[in-house]
Amino acid sequence: MTTPVPVIAIDGPSGSGKGTIARRVAAALGYHLLDSGALYRLTAMAAAKRGVQLDDAEAVAKIARCLDIRFDSHADGSERIWLADEDVTHEVRKESTGAGASTVAAIPAVREALLERQRAFQKAPGLVADGRDMGTHVFTTAPLKVFLTASAEERAKRRYKQLKDKGMDVSLAALSRDIEDRDRRDSERSVAPLKPATDARMLDSSGLSIEAVTKTVLEWVAEL
Ligand code: C5P
Repeated sequence: MTTPVPVIAIDGPSGSGKGTIARRVAAALGYHLLDSGALYRLTAMAAAKRGVQLDDAEAVAKIARCLDIRFDSHADGSERIWLADEDVTHEVRKESTGAGASTVAAIPAVREALLERQRAFQKAPGLVADGRDMGTHVFTTAPLKVFLTASAEERAKRRYKQLKDKGMDVSLAALSRDIEDRDRRDSERSVAPLKPATDARMLDSSGLSIEAVTKTVLEWVAEL
């Protein structure tokens, strides 16, 4: 019998630091990385670019089924994201794209369409998967599931710094509102709502450094 490729699932709300921690943990372990949020973001972008309304479930699901995307990782740690032949690395991170993503993510047929695409990232030697339902739906047998949280205030501040560092023009108040709206939509949707898996390990990153959170996750990996 072949040993299954290990998956470290890292779920949590917007701005909890999942993306950063997942990236660090994957680099430390030499594992692949799945940024599942990017798939929902790219679906929303592809729909908008074709003039499809984001609440048109059937049309958006069709787009999700035949998404033409590419993630290019470079040796210096940088990454470029392509939607067909367009470099959308910058656009994919915009707050407006995140809001669109959470709208299309509430459509069951879209989630279904992206399921196998996400599972295809499970390749040797292992995968770190970051999202909202990695532990509850996509990789239910993952040997380690982490649910990362942080206070709403801290999450808004982190997101603000992240977007400012990328040169984007944002206001902290507007960002706090966006994060609250997105949390509500993600937690209240009927399919795969944001919630910890029953066997997830909870980690509150408020007041902790990126290094400290990464270290804790790596200690949990070492216990497996
Ligand atoms: O993590 P990120 O901010 O890129 O995710 C954007 C949106 O995509 C989230 O607000 C959520 O609605 C959706 N999402 C999801 N399930 C995932 C990852 C992201 O529903 N596994």
